[in-house]
Amino acid sequence: MGLKEEIARRRTFGIISHPDAGKTTLTEKLLLFGGAIHEAGAVKSNKIKKTATSDFMEIEKQRGISVATSVMGFEYRNYKVNILDTPGHQDFAEDTFRTLTAVDSVIIVIDAAKGVEAQTKKLMEVCRMRNTPVMVFINKMDRPSKDYFDLLDEIEEQLQIKVRPLSWPIGNGPDFKGVYNLYEKNLYLFTPGKQVLEEGLSFSDVNSPEIEEYIGKESADTLREEIDLVEGVYNEFNTEEYLNATLAPVFFGSALNNFGVRELLHCFLDIAPSPRPSKTDVRMVLPDEDKFSGFVFKIHANMDPNHRNRIAFLRVCSGKFERNKNYLHVRLGKQMKFSSPTAFMAQKKSIVDEAWPGDIIGIPDSGNFKIGDSLTEGEKLNFKGLPSFSPELFRYIENADPMKSKQLAKGVDQLMDEGVAQLFISQYNGRKIIGTVGALQFEVIQYRLEHEYNAKCRYEPINLYKACWMKSNDKAQLDDFKRRKAQYMAKDKYGRDVFLADSAYMLQMAQENFPGIEFHFTSEFD
Ligand code: G4P
Repeated sequence: MGLKEEIARRRTFGIISHPDAGKTTLTEKLLLFGGAIHEAGAVKSNKIKKTATSDFMEIEKQRGISVATSVMGFEYRNYKVNILDTPGHQDFAEDTFRTLTAVDSVIIVIDAAKGVEAQTKKLMEVCRMRNTPVMVFINKMDRPSKDYFDLLDEIEEQLQIKVRPLSWPIGNGPDFKGVYNLYEKNLYLFTPGKQVLEEGLSFSDVNSPEIEEYIGKESADTLREEIDLVEGVYNEFNTEEYLNATLAPVFFGSALNNFGVRELLHCFLDIAPSPRPSKTDVRMVLPDEDKFSGFVFKIHANMDPNHRNRIAFLRVCSGKFERNKNYLHVRLGKQMKFSSPTAFMAQKKSIVDEAWPGDIIGIPDSGNFKIGDSLTEGEKLNFKGLPSFSPELFRYIENADPMKSKQLAKGVDQLMDEGVAQLFISQYNGRKIIGTVGALQFEVIQYRLEHEYNAKCRYEPINLYKACWMKSNDKAQLDDFKRRKAQYMAKDKYGRDVFLADSAYMLQMAQENFPGIEFHFTSEFD
């Protein structure tokens, strides 16, 4: 198979949801279809249990497991499917944001009884920012659910995307009888507690009287009325709109009961995008270019504290990646070759000789990579789309063991490379400030510094609201601002100026008083 064929058959995507909506269960069912796993429960352990948020052994164990489940690749119907796992725990939201930069599309799982929840909304913002096509799976249909039309309205409103149901449920909760698949024109009957794998019943017309034999006249009438309404309210499904990320097709099902999952997968394989062009600081890179290029979106470090081993996860953006071939590490300006890149098939890792656009490879690394690094065959370009986001929580970090300051500096540096948190250096007093998305990271950092770097830290409170990256064409105004707000100025790890606002009010005042400066909550805004 040539480059073009390899690209066309690849589907690299992420599944996102609010915790507990059923992401893990759905992932697992998809893997079962792909033959990547053989029993339910295999992916289950990939979750930080809600009860164990401060149990570090649990976190460490999870880190181990999550390497194996970070990328789950399998072959199905001649497609190469790559599912990228996204942590469900909201304290790791930034990991999820970054993972979403390496996917071509997304499946959103929504709990039918709960509707759109906070985390889903946040993640959808990232999809919207990147124009990522999304498909929606409304899960837990075996349980009482919100009114279906209300649910669809809620999705349109809250996720700010047009929807188009491609299946329609029959009954609700205890009366749930199945779905009519509008995409395949099939009826799928639901038997509670039974893992449904059978083919659907083909009914190209819902008005067919035979349908009544299966679901009864009353349900059939309701179904017909509702489908009439659906066809009246929603425009015909248009794949282009989906690919342009302006329309989300919606499926209903129950991941736990394996109901509606196969139809979702089949439609997904049919319409989801193969690897898409990638933005860089100099030009668009097309997947079918001859020359290889890719970027690192995730780093996993020190799985074994006795060996400083890290794995850099690289997404191939163009051309063919080959083992033992020299590539340019653009940031370091250095040629490097990799003797043991790994691919992730099912839950096994194995050394690969080649990889294609859309594939994710793991590169063993001794400290050369940072998140966002690009590899090419010589061209100096940097992939875009991996911004730093403003943290939500901030603390000063201090050395708690004066004999170990070197270890501490190294540990903090490496943990920041890994993207565990962000470090800012105050330009006012030179102190180091750690910013995170969730409180859990502070504990993770402290724990890992101690166990992996033999260093001790302590935190001191600092009251900050947001970190803002700035842009201005008015150098005089910017200089004036930095001088006046010297107390609140810091540098991020790339040496960029950051304004650390201590309240929403302070930021608002800054915006009003310095109209020539743009303040951004992410580091990439062009
Ligand atoms: P997450 O990864 O999005 O956090 O969700 P996960 O798949 O772990 O599912 C959360 C809970 O919802 C699990 O129950 C799971 O069994 C259940 N679930 C998933 N899909 C369905 C469905 O279609 N119908 C129903 N009724 N439940 C579903 P749990 O009790 O938290 O975990 P467990 O004890 O079953 O492992």
